[in-house]
Amino acid sequence: MTRIRSIVRGVGSYLPQRVLTNDELAKTVDTSDEWIQQRVGIKERHIAAEGEFTSDLAVAAARAALDNAGLTPDDIDLIIVATTTPDYTFPAAATLVQMKLGMRHGFAFDLQAVCSGFVYAVTTADSHIKNGLARRVLVIGAETFTRLLDWTDRTTCVLFGDGAGAMILEGVELAEDEPERGILASALRSDGQHWDKLYVDGGPSSTGTAGHVHMQGPEVFRHAVGKITDVVYATLEKSGYTVADLDWFVPHQANKRIIDGAGAKLGLPTEKVVTTVDIHANTSAASVPLALSVAVADGRIKPGDLVMLEAMGGGFTWGASLIRW
Ligand code: UT7
Repeated sequence: MTRIRSIVRGVGSYLPQRVLTNDELAKTVDTSDEWIQQRVGIKERHIAAEGEFTSDLAVAAARAALDNAGLTPDDIDLIIVATTTPDYTFPAAATLVQMKLGMRHGFAFDLQAVCSGFVYAVTTADSHIKNGLARRVLVIGAETFTRLLDWTDRTTCVLFGDGAGAMILEGVELAEDEPERGILASALRSDGQHWDKLYVDGGPSSTGTAGHVHMQGPEVFRHAVGKITDVVYATLEKSGYTVADLDWFVPHQANKRIIDGAGAKLGLPTEKVVTTVDIHANTSAASVPLALSVAVADGRIKPGDLVMLEAMGGGFTWGASLIRW
C-alpha cells in the first residue's frame, strides 16, 4: 500500500530593506534598547517601505522558495498565504500573489490565524495534498504587521516587524518499505474566550478601519509556555517520537523569554532551538518560515532532520507540526 506524504521541496524568505533599531525607536517613544533586549530579546526589526505591500513581500519569499526548490510557478497547484495584514480586505493576498507570479491555473486563498497562521497553513496544505486536491503547495507566511501598530504605544510598538517566509510542499507516494518523511503529524488548537487579550480594534464589519494592536502582554505570556508545550507533546504523541528525537525546534518568535521557557519545559538543549526574534522581532505569520529559512540557509537544518514547528498567538490560536526534512 502506498502512502501520500507532504515533503518539503524548498524554503525562502524576504525581509524589507529598512531596519529599525531599538535605539531609533527610543527616540520617538519612552523605551530603551536595554528594556527591549532584557524583556523580549529584540535588537532590531525590518519595516516595509511605503508602497510595499504584504503581497510584494510574499512574492519575493515565494520566488526565493521556488529557486530553492528548482521549480517555477507552473509547478504549483495551490497558494496559501497566512496573513493578518492582507493588501485589501478582499481579494485574498494569495490571489494577488498568484497574479504577480503569472500563475493562471490552480487556486489560492488566505488563512487567518494571526501568529499561528503558518503552522495552520502548513497543516491545511498537508490535508489538501493527502486529499488529492493539490500536489504542490506554496505555503507563505507574510505580514506588514507594523501597519497595525500605534507607534505611541510602547507596550506593543517595540515588539513587531515585517517580513515573509515561504515553503513548498509536494505530495509524494512512499512505498511500503520506505521510512516516513515529510509532515509526520500536526496538532491545531484555538480558544476564542481569550480573543481580547491580543486583538486589533478595527475591521470591515465593526469600525470600517484597519485598527491598532492591543495586547494584555503579561496575560498572553502567562498562557504561552503551557499552550506551546501542550501542543508540541500532542504532536509528538501522534507521531510516536519523543522530545529526545528532535533535531530542531523552530518556535514562533515573539519573545526570547517565552522561547527559552518552552525549550526548558520541554527539556531541549538551547543549541537545538532556532531563535531569530533578535533580528526579526515578532513578524506574526511570517516568523516561523523566516526562522526556518535562516536555519536551512546556514546549514543547520539538513535532509533527514526531525524538525518541530510551533506557534501561538491571537485568538488564542496555537499549533505544532512535526516534519522529517
Ligand atoms: O505573537 C503573539 C504572542 N505574543 C506574545 O507572546 C507576547 C507575550 N507577552 C510578552 O512577551 C510580554 O508580556 C511583553 C514583552 C509584552 C511585556 O513584558 P513584561 O515583562 O510582561 O512587562 P509588563 O507588561 O509587565 O511591564 C513591566 C513594566 C511596566 O512598567 P511598571 O508598571 O512596572 O512601571 C510597563 O509599563 O515595563 C513597562 N513597559 C516598558 N518599559 C519600557 C512596557 N513596555 C515597555 C517598553 N519600554 N517598551
